[in-house]
Amino acid sequence: MADGMLAHDGMPTRDGMPTSDETLARDESLTRDETLPRDHGTRPYWDARHADLDDLTSGGHIGLDRPGNELFYAHRLGTLLDLIGDLSSPTAPLFVLDAGCGKGYFARALARCGHRVDAFDTSRTAIDHARAEGGGPRYAVALLDEWRAAWPYDIVVCVDVLFHVPDDEEWAAGLRNLASLVRVAGRLILTDEDTDRRTPRGAHIVHRPLTAYRAELEPLGLRHTLSRPYGFRENRVGFHVFTRNS
Ligand SMILES: C[S@@+](CC[C@H](N)C(=O)[O-])C[C@H]1O[C@@H](n2cnc3c(N)ncnc32)[C@H](O)[C@@H]1O
Repeated sequence: MADGMLAHDGMPTRDGMPTSDETLARDESLTRDETLPRDHGTRPYWDARHADLDDLTSGGHIGLDRPGNELFYAHRLGTLLDLIGDLSSPTAPLFVLDAGCGKGYFARALARCGHRVDAFDTSRTAIDHARAEGGGPRYAVALLDEWRAAWPYDIVVCVDVLFHVPDDEEWAAGLRNLASLVRVAGRLILTDEDTDRRTPRGAHIVHRPLTAYRAELEPLGLRHTLSRPYGFRENRVGFHVFTRNS
């Protein structure tokens, strides 16, 4: 079980789902027996990056200055909200998972929009920062391929994380796990560069083509329904939306 997943205030209640009290009771018992997520090759890199760089640069674009990253985040948030839609209901909030949330920019923004947000990242440094910011999301330290939830999510977002997983097996396992967390008719919104082949860039980046994502996700019942390039300066990354139809 991922640590931190459970040290939080009440969870949303749904028919057939645990109530807040039930969840809290379970959470409290599990937080007494916290286990760290397994060792992970790129965690030291991300912990150092999140410790050394400011809240936007560490998870944004290290080639941009602060105003550039403000624009980069705001621009992508607008697109992300457009892709998620304008539904917002206090009685039936969307259940959203932000996988690889970094310091929580998107998680907090989605919570402000009325959604119930769970968020995790491999970097404890990033999660400590995100928790200190507060703002509603529940945070955990976890890996893409190990996060488990008691219920499926309406929306799973994974922004600029999957191309930071250099190992192909780990990438595929993470992607399959994220797919398993999406409810029927729900959406997995991930990002990668528009490329026609597997494209490594340095030690920490491997871009993969849309065909590679489709090959993993379509057998699991997720259909590619939309792509939307960031359209930010020279950046070639964009959102891919997959919708679960079975
Ligand atoms: C470029 S940052 C993006 C962070 C956040 N999504 C954002 O847009 O602000 C990539 C994040 O992915 C996290 N990460 C990398 N590999 C991961 C994995 N296998 N499981 C979970 N998180 C991972 C890193 O710690 C880092 O915070």
